Amino acid sequence: MSATPDRATRAGVEHARALIGDARQVVVLTGAGISAESGVPTFRGSGGLWKEYRAEDLATPQAFARDPRLVWEWYGWRRRVVQQCLPNAAHVALATAARERGGVRIVTQNVDGLHATAATVPQALPLELHGSLFRSRCTRCGGRWDDRGEVNAATRDTLPMCAACGGLARPDIVWFGESLDEATLAQAMQLAAGAAVCLVVGTSAVVYPAAGLAEVTRRHGGSVIEVNVADTPLSGTAAVTLRGPAAVVVPHLLAPASE
Ligand code: APR
Repeated sequence: MSATPDRATRAGVEHARALIGDARQVVVLTGAGISAESGVPTFRGSGGLWKEYRAEDLATPQAFARDPRLVWEWYGWRRRVVQQCLPNAAHVALATAARERGGVRIVTQNVDGLHATAATVPQALPLELHGSLFRSRCTRCGGRWDDRGEVNAATRDTLPMCAACGGLARPDIVWFGESLDEATLAQAMQLAAGAAVCLVVGTSAVVYPAAGLAEVTRRHGGSVIEVNVADTPLSGTAAVTLRGPAAVVVPHLLAPASE
């Protein structure tokens, strides 16, 4: 969307703003695309992580069992990259909407922590479906802790360890083939079922169960609004599809009526 959107887009934005304006509950589902303009690599887009690296070598429990040093080296790199990034106008607009108008909840697939950084009130904190780059978990006792530290993956003995039991730590991220945290997923499903609008921003909508949240809202009579720079499997069933970069479109969508 250019700074001066065309007629179709303007109509789409107005329709989406009306749906959001009338909605008591809005659930926002975000993916890597919302952080692209902050400099965080996406997964499947051009230059995406899965174009450069094999997910099965880096983001599965089998890969970690095979070579924890390689996996930690990669997550250490991702942590460094994301630590250079700041929330963009889309993260900020969503955090502001969650703070200023009740009934807006953010559910994210992202592990970059940028929604949490943009949040100024508890209700703007996202449900993180796939975990966080900045949390680690013990492979022995299951303990979890915040972890923004530098990862030293020189040898297996220098890898992050659990301070409580000395067990090997792993990134607290949901890997392929693993289940999401049940309570977090149940909360996300409940939000989606109770929402009159599911605003889907910057996801390729191919990874389940996250991609299924929009369908839950639709099945319960709600509307799906999609913001993406390209088509996705959701585009055909969304009430409104807005083509454009999230940091431009989302603030437009959520700007107070006067602006
Ligand atoms: N604004 C809006 N959308 C964008 C932008 C942008 N600036 N840049 C890219 N996109 C869109 C792409 O067109 C694509 O549809 O964002 C989407 C990013 O898709 P993916 O890279 O597949 O990321 P995501 O959907 O979040 O992946 C889901 O897969 O790899 C796993 O666990 C990982 O959470 C991740 C999950």
